[in-house]
Amino acid sequence: MLDGKRILLIVGGGIAAFKALDLIRRLRERGAVVTPVLTRAAEEFVTPLSASALAAHKVYRDLFDLTDEAEMGHIELSRAADLVLVAPATADLMGKMASGLADDLASTLLMATDKRVLIAPAMNLRMWLHPAVQRNLALLKGDGVLIAGPNEGEMACGEYGPGRMAEPPEIVAAVEAALAEGPLKGRHVIVTSGPTHEPIDPVRYIANRSSGAQGAALARALTGLGADVTFVTGPAEVPPPGGVRVIRVETAQQMLEAVEAALPADAAVFAAAVADWRVANAAERKMKKDGSGRPPTLEFSENPDILARVSQLDEGRPCLVIGFAAETDDLVVNATAKRARKGCDWIVANDVSPATGIMGGDENAVTLITAAGAEQWPRMGKDQVANRLAQLISKALA
Ligand code: CTP
Repeated sequence: MLDGKRILLIVGGGIAAFKALDLIRRLRERGAVVTPVLTRAAEEFVTPLSASALAAHKVYRDLFDLTDEAEMGHIELSRAADLVLVAPATADLMGKMASGLADDLASTLLMATDKRVLIAPAMNLRMWLHPAVQRNLALLKGDGVLIAGPNEGEMACGEYGPGRMAEPPEIVAAVEAALAEGPLKGRHVIVTSGPTHEPIDPVRYIANRSSGAQGAALARALTGLGADVTFVTGPAEVPPPGGVRVIRVETAQQMLEAVEAALPADAAVFAAAVADWRVANAAERKMKKDGSGRPPTLEFSENPDILARVSQLDEGRPCLVIGFAAETDDLVVNATAKRARKGCDWIVANDVSPATGIMGGDENAVTLITAAGAEQWPRMGKDQVANRLAQLISKALA
């Protein structure tokens, strides 16, 4: 049931917009309060009057409607909901969302919201299969946007294929799933992710090949189970997922400070590939060749071990501390020793030998090391590793 849940329903301009009226009715039957927003193009397909009559609610249409701004500004409108639903989501709306455009009320609300966003795409199959739309879809998924459909079937234009909007009952089910209170609700989890950059001088740094994909996937999976996630990330290639508190850092020292500031937490997962060393004699000005042909000598000092520090806290230690171990040899032996040395509860060990393609790739093959021993998981997508680990975290905190 959706008792009292507030849904901001953005209706895009496509032939499937007529189904949005049925959707409003069904959402209200389940107890939801629906606030409709029509794009200009949507008004060509459904009238504001029918949307407001079915919703028993005022319909919002224009960013520059001053009366509405006085009553409820667009920022407030975007946050007053429990969920933002876009149905139908046209190729145009998806493109705007993916590229961060905000040139009308609908796209501005989508950018200003701090709530989960669920979209039900609907378009001609050639448009749906177009690389640009598929690219935007991947970007939106990466941002944590939830997707319902589209279905395969006959289209209004007579063609057959994927692109039909999911049916209203399916969209209602997706809304219910998105609003279901996950098992990690009320639990705070810190996730570190990405590489760190250790400066040599103002323009050069030492880094590693971590893309941040595994950490981002984990943060997304934990958020999906309802956790309140603080995501402390180094300069990663993969953007942070939506719905998490993002703290961007550059160096290991900054990552430690950010993690300490984010405590207390119920669990902490250290997926970052932290540089073990920083340049002790980093130059304040750009280093120049001195003409002698001799390379400069860099001196290193050891970085603080964030995982070990948090694992060994006397007070305020999270109930569950999880480290990662990137190994190229003797995976289980090394990772088991690492778990004991650092004092964490679990270690997720992975083989990062170049031949595995794991560092920077989409897949991971991990062995989970706990007090009970080592458990090898089959090779799977980083998203699947994240989901499985998030489920285990949720069980351990239950
Ligand atoms: N880690 C950390 N702070 C550091 C170094 C590592 O928090 N300064 C964390 C990583 O996030 C990871 C785990 O420790 O969860 C293991 O990191 P890894 O680099 O694989 O191990 P090392 O400690 O560097 O051990 P080794 O030198 O044996 O590889």
